[in-house]
Order: sequence, then structure tokens, then C-alpha cells
Amino acid sequence: MLDATDRLAHVRARFALPEDIVYLDGNSLGAMGSAVPDAVREVVADQWGRDLITSWNAHDWWHAPRRVGARIARLVGAADDEVVVADSTSVNLFKVLVAAARLRPGRSTLVIEPGNFPADLYIADSVADLLAMRLVKVEPADLGSVLDSDVAAVAFSHVDYRTGRAHDVPSVTAATHASGALSVWDLSHSAGALDVRLNEWDVDFAVGCSYKYLNGGPGAPAYVMASRRHHTAMRSPLMGWTGHARPFAMESSYEPGPGIDGMRCGTPPMLSLLALEVALAAFDELSMAEVRARSLSLTRLFLSLADSVLASRGFAVVTPRPDEERGSQVSLTHPSAYGVVQALIARGVIGDFRAPDIVRLGLAPLYVRHVDVVATVEQLAALVDAGEEREPRYHARATVT
Ligand SMILES: Cc1ncc(COP(=O)(O)O)c(C=O)c1O
Repeated sequence: MLDATDRLAHVRARFALPEDIVYLDGNSLGAMGSAVPDAVREVVADQWGRDLITSWNAHDWWHAPRRVGARIARLVGAADDEVVVADSTSVNLFKVLVAAARLRPGRSTLVIEPGNFPADLYIADSVADLLAMRLVKVEPADLGSVLDSDVAAVAFSHVDYRTGRAHDVPSVTAATHASGALSVWDLSHSAGALDVRLNEWDVDFAVGCSYKYLNGGPGAPAYVMASRRHHTAMRSPLMGWTGHARPFAMESSYEPGPGIDGMRCGTPPMLSLLALEVALAAFDELSMAEVRARSLSLTRLFLSLADSVLASRGFAVVTPRPDEERGSQVSLTHPSAYGVVQALIARGVIGDFRAPDIVRLGLAPLYVRHVDVVATVEQLAALVDAGEEREPRYHARATVT
């Protein structure tokens, strides 16, 4: 019934999904857009294969990072000239944290949340070390206790990768600004699923990956957003030639390109970047408010079924209940979470495990249906009733969990 009245039900046809699989891992690797294989084949055969290096001009490869960045900008509430696709999320975080710190000279503290994605913690540690700053780890709810005139930047993730908790970006950003610091957000687990409004929320810098809800494909390049108000003064610490004001003048000293161009660094991975461009067409004619409403409808259904069917079977919900505090995933703890996920995959429902005990199920709003939620809960109940999660074959740890 929920699917029959769903205004976005037709969007699933924009993806090539195996018939016999329920795919709840779009928050790790998004599904493949149905137009992507032909588009990539054309890029390989006709552009790279036939037009060779002339493709940089003939197919405008050079401007693809900005062109694709502009498409992403529209999904995260930024202006077209505030986003560029480049590098990985980790590298972009490094660039913006250093840039933010340098925009606040004399301040020597960076703030991050302790439960942030490990890459974010490591990168923040490295930036603090390189710039001789102090790194303070604090839960977003306690931010007020550490904000003072020494804080240069506060870097949080919009949605927690483990629990699915969504932070209140506007109020955290406002508190950050009140102390004179800059606000940096990692949108990896929100862009493409939530109604992100970077400019309305007054965010300074943001980064995120494109291979999750944006469906860019494995290893697709990440993006970086810098508010226009920083375009003149900001400096990326990675002064690569593609970020130069005149890259083909081959000058011996660096001058950053205008605005967001200065966040480019090296040659983009064109095959992945052009695959991402085609993948983003799945969002055509959709408003992010509609996408977010569908995501909430899916997670709400999951939570109510988890309460009625799974709570008595050893599962506990860790994802927040209030809609505004939830991303687009449902995370459940279970004492045998790893075995549960492996047994679930064997039953045709792909989710993932996050240490130490989380079954993480991503409800990508463009292609997951309400029937998929019902089927997943049924399979979880059936596998636990059969004790499958305890079978030794489901306990061998693969390299990637
Ligand atoms: C929140 C978050 N930040 C950063 C990263 C790292 O991204 P990358 O491997 O593109 O550097 C990930 C990857 O899953 C992530 O989930």
C-alpha cells in the first residue's frame, strides 16, 4: 500500500538492480544507474579510445569537476560555483581543515566528535599535528562546553555512520559561528538522502563521498564545498597544478585558481567522474524534500517493525526515533551481529556490519521499497529463529565487512 501511493516509486527503474536481491547497502556503495554502463562504454570506446587526448577539449573533460560539482551543489543546497568534485573525502577534509585553520590565525584548537568516521579522526589528528594545534574531541551535544575564542574550526559528520544519528546542522553551525569559529561538515551519509541546505544553514565548508547515496560507483571521486564568502581568502594546502589559476602556463610558482577551482589538485579520474555525472541523472526532476520524505517513510516503517518483530529476538534499535534526528539508515545491535549480517546476505538481503555489534541497513530512498523493508524484517526474524547466525560458516571474517 505504501509503495502503491508512493510518488517516487517510478525512480527505482532508473537503477539496474538484481531482481532477487534486497539491497540495503546504498549507504556504503550505491546501486548502479541503468544508464551508466552504456555511458561508460561510450567514454572508453569513443572518447578515450578514438578521440584520445583531444577529449580534454572535445568532450570538455577539463571542466567536468566543476560541471559535476554543480549538479551535486543543487542536491546539497549550495550554489553551482561552490562545489567541485576532486580527490577522496579524506583528502578534501584535509584541504578544508587546513584552509579553515588558516582563515582563523591565532586560534589553535580544532574540534571534532569522538565517534566520527575513523578517516575524519585521523585526518584531523594529522592537521592538528602539522599546524601545532590542539585537537579536542567532544560530543556535538556538549559542543558549548569547549567553544571559546581559541577554536578555529568544528568538524562533524551530518549523519553518524554507525548509529544513523543526524545532527542539527543549523544550530551547531550557529553556535560555532557565535564563538568565531568555522563550521565544517562531512556529508558522506546525508547527501542524496536528506534535504541538505548548506547555504541556508550558513555552513562554511563541506566534504563528502559520491559512492554512497549519490551512486557514483566504487571509488568515485569525492566533492568539496566552500562557501562563496571564503573564496577570496581560502587556500588549499595541496597546491596541485589543476588548481592553479593558469594550469597550462606551466608557471614555476603557484597561484590558486579563482574560488572553488583552487580546491582542485591533480588530474581527475575521468572514467569514474563521468560515470558519476551520468549516475546523478537519477535525481533529475526530484526535490530533496520529496526524497527525504520517502527516506523517513522507509525508516519509520522499519523502526515500527523492529519494535513489533525484532525486539523480542535480541535486536535493539540504536538509530534515533525522532524523524529530525535520523539519517536514512536503521542500525540494530545484536550479540551476534556479524553472523546475522552474513546469514542475511545468504538469504538475499545485503546489509552490512559495523564493529562491534551493529547490523546496519541503509534505506536508499531512490530505489529501496517498503516491501523491501518488510522482507528484510521477515528474513531477520526467520534467520534468528533458525539460529543461523551461530553457524560457523557465517563467522569467517572477510577483509571488507
Ligand atoms: C563519514 C565518512 N567520511 C569519510 C569517509 C572516507 O572517504 P574516502 O575513502 O573517500 O576518503 C567515509 C567512507 O566511508 C565516510 O563514511
